[in-house]
Amino acid sequence: MEKLVISGGRALNGKIMLQGSKNSALPILAATLAVGGTSVIHNCPVLTDITAALKILEHTGCKIKREGHTVIVDSSAASRYDIPECMMREMRSSIIFLGALISRFGCAGVTPPGGCEIGLRPIDLHLSSLRRMGVDISENGGVLECRAPCGISPCHIALAFPSVGATENIMLASLRVKGETVITNAAREPEIKDLADFLKKCGARISGAGQSVIRINGVERMHSSVHSVIPDRIVASTYMACAACTGGKIAIDGICREHLLPVITVFEGAGCRIGIKNNELIINAPEKLSRIKSLRTMPYPGFPTDSQAIVTAMLATAHGTSVITEKIFENRFRHVPELIKMGADIRVEDGSVAVIEGVERLRGARVSACDLRGGSALAVAALGAEGKSVIENIHHIDRGCEAIEESFSLLGADIKRIKN
Ligand code: EPZ
Repeated sequence: MEKLVISGGRALNGKIMLQGSKNSALPILAATLAVGGTSVIHNCPVLTDITAALKILEHTGCKIKREGHTVIVDSSAASRYDIPECMMREMRSSIIFLGALISRFGCAGVTPPGGCEIGLRPIDLHLSSLRRMGVDISENGGVLECRAPCGISPCHIALAFPSVGATENIMLASLRVKGETVITNAAREPEIKDLADFLKKCGARISGAGQSVIRINGVERMHSSVHSVIPDRIVASTYMACAACTGGKIAIDGICREHLLPVITVFEGAGCRIGIKNNELIINAPEKLSRIKSLRTMPYPGFPTDSQAIVTAMLATAHGTSVITEKIFENRFRHVPELIKMGADIRVEDGSVAVIEGVERLRGARVSACDLRGGSALAVAALGAEGKSVIENIHHIDRGCEAIEESFSLLGADIKRIKN
């Protein structure tokens, strides 16, 4: 088990290149199986979740080549449509292979996915949508056996909630369906549009991705393509919080301004000065952060739940009382008890509202990452804290942030990864 040891209290300054988006790369990798041929995916971050996705692709019979941030997937010989439980449990995104397998083979055998324990995270919307499209789904010994004996039918799916994963699964499953599949109340996250952009390059007919109504007109044939994954808006917000928490100034290269608008407003509200030129964002922290009176996580284009933990850590030392309401997941304040060990004054009400009374300074402590973004939040808090912090269970952080110690060191942090 590895740990991060961080000596805080230094202002972080400098320039950093942003990694590609994990949550875009994962469904695109699943999509390479659906489209067939050899796909080349650039700007793919080097993360354990990506390795888990590549193992699933290999298991189905794909040939994989990974060269730095480029992944080449040759799915021509793929023939297996079952994914073993041990692979499904590695991450939540394994469920997106369900739509890809159905598109490619007309059937799939999967188990419920794993992933961060941030709430119930059911897959009912994924399954009810596929059933509506004509997929028979039965459970046998914990395995969901999915078949479309009469083919998949075009239909109108009105999602009860704009689920990112369910939208992706429907898009993938409907690629070759004869006729038009319509998703209403679709997720509008930038990662949905990135998936659609990749699929369109491969010959898919999709319109409306990034908006609430997505239309997929099935095509008979698809082909492989070359694609570059969008920048990671959540990791960008993590670097922004590094500057904010330490009173530093950081330039983040390779951002997409539009994707960051919901978080920029919040950082500006806390008193940070932000300038953007082309694809570079410069954030300059104030001497003392201001409180954010009320912040709610919402589906895009609202404030992202994935940036909530990081902003909670940032507001722990802001002037005054901030209130954050988590509206997407039921159990996404697991970083709070760890921040309290560092001296934060935060109470969580009804599991979904965090009331943060800003303290003067956090102090270093031994803490444990409970999930991916909560873990990154602890690292950010430790950078701003006085003294030494030890963060355990950092495998959670490695699922989403590429070589966090290298990036933070580049910005002047005193951070080391050590083995137990
Ligand atoms: C994606 O998860 C992201 N993961 C999450 O990022 C992100 O937090 C989330 O979208 C919301 O933006 C990936 O892209 C791999 P949802 P996903 O389906 O698709 C409920 C990270 O740290 N729901 O939009 O699982 C669900 O329980 C991760 O990178 C159902 O009730 O999110 C949740 O409360 C964490 N039934 C809400 O909807 C369903 O069938 C949003 O889930 C599906 C979802």
